[in-house]
Amino acid sequence: MAESWKHCDEGLPSATRKYVYDDDFFAFFKGKKIFITGVSGFKGSWMLKILSDAGADVTGYSLKSPTDPALFDLIEGTKLCRFIEGDVRDFDALCSAVKEAEPEIVIHLAAQPIVRESYLNPVYTYETNVMGTVHILEAVRNCPGVKSFLNVTTDKVYFNNEWEWGYREDDPLDGFDPYSNSKSCSELVTHSYKNSFFGKQGYSLAAVSTARAGNVIGGGDFAKDRIIPDCVRAASSKETVIVRNPYSTRPYQHVLEPVMAYLMIVKESYLGVEKSGYYNVGPDENDCVTTGDLVDMFCEKWGDGLSWINKAAAFSPHEAGLLKLDCSKIKRVFGWRPRWNVSQALDKVVEWTKVYLAGGDVSAEMSREIKEYCGT
Ligand SMILES: NC(=O)c1ccc[n+]([C@@H]2O[C@H](COP(=O)([O-])OP(=O)(O)OC[C@H]3O[C@@H](n4cnc5c(N)ncnc54)[C@H](O)[C@@H]3O)[C@@H](O)[C@H]2O)c1
Repeated sequence: MAESWKHCDEGLPSATRKYVYDDDFFAFFKGKKIFITGVSGFKGSWMLKILSDAGADVTGYSLKSPTDPALFDLIEGTKLCRFIEGDVRDFDALCSAVKEAEPEIVIHLAAQPIVRESYLNPVYTYETNVMGTVHILEAVRNCPGVKSFLNVTTDKVYFNNEWEWGYREDDPLDGFDPYSNSKSCSELVTHSYKNSFFGKQGYSLAAVSTARAGNVIGGGDFAKDRIIPDCVRAASSKETVIVRNPYSTRPYQHVLEPVMAYLMIVKESYLGVEKSGYYNVGPDENDCVTTGDLVDMFCEKWGDGLSWINKAAAFSPHEAGLLKLDCSKIKRVFGWRPRWNVSQALDKVVEWTKVYLAGGDVSAEMSREIKEYCGT
């Protein structure tokens, strides 16, 4: 699992450089065949919007949107890609879909991603998050045209010491709850496939990566048991926000931070296999804030007298208290750095939500935000 850092010193961008999302970046994706699992989810919808604006040829494979309303429906996702409704636990269906799509790039987002849900449904969570990863890797193994693969995991994959330092990519993987732990397993499965098969004789694909991002916020997240969607629901119905654990610290970032970083990783690894690897993708240190501080900021930005109360839920299983990522590696290898701090990210949530509640064009709002983000 330990990964060599030798590539970082070999003429790669220094930490002072900033990775650029310019016209050339988007031109790379034009016409590229890209296969995305979990396309109907929150991150999947933002990724699809970016790729379809760039002219990519996307095949999306996932269950129906997990929420109602859903961002995927609002952007008319089925018109932006070849959408296949399917389960990653269904090995044959997934293999056929990959085979038929003949992708050059595969991005695995599909997961049961909610910690509390994983306590209620651990078997489903492991089946989806672990065997789903085995299935997509096996499908990719049998599809010689794939040149770059990315498995999207999470900051929760690490054994959590509840300390104030950020976890690094070589720290032990051993998440506590079934969701976090299933994602640790998903990482290990990916490492084994990379070590055992890819880049070896008979397999063309060598560029296999994982990305471990922090908690994302952004317009269009309607998931239950996530703090910003809870705030938005309360704000739109003029109720008080209920916060389950205001003292937990998390690396909050706008959804465009990891989604653009995922695209950067698959592109750069496609062009140079030495760039593939296991990467943390998180905000800067001062954007790791407590949930209480995050909600304070949201209430202030929303206005309209919005406030919150601290109320533990009847069902309160263990969740990590303190969680930070050390993102030195992705900064050093790619010159990547976060562009929007937590306050700017919240501004975007408020802007998107106000467009949505006013019945405006949320697709156009997303294109605007993508452009603004890339120009920052
Ligand atoms: N949202 C976050 O804060 C966050 C943070 C870190 C990592 N992640 C990871 O990012 C990825 C995307 O998360 P999201 O926030 O977009 O979640 P989401 O719940 O909005 O989307 C999940 C997607 O996976 C699909 N899916 C779920 N089970 C499936 C199954 N058995 N077969 C096929 N498709 C299935 C859903 O239909 C949906 O398209 C996940 O892997 C998640 O673990 C999310």
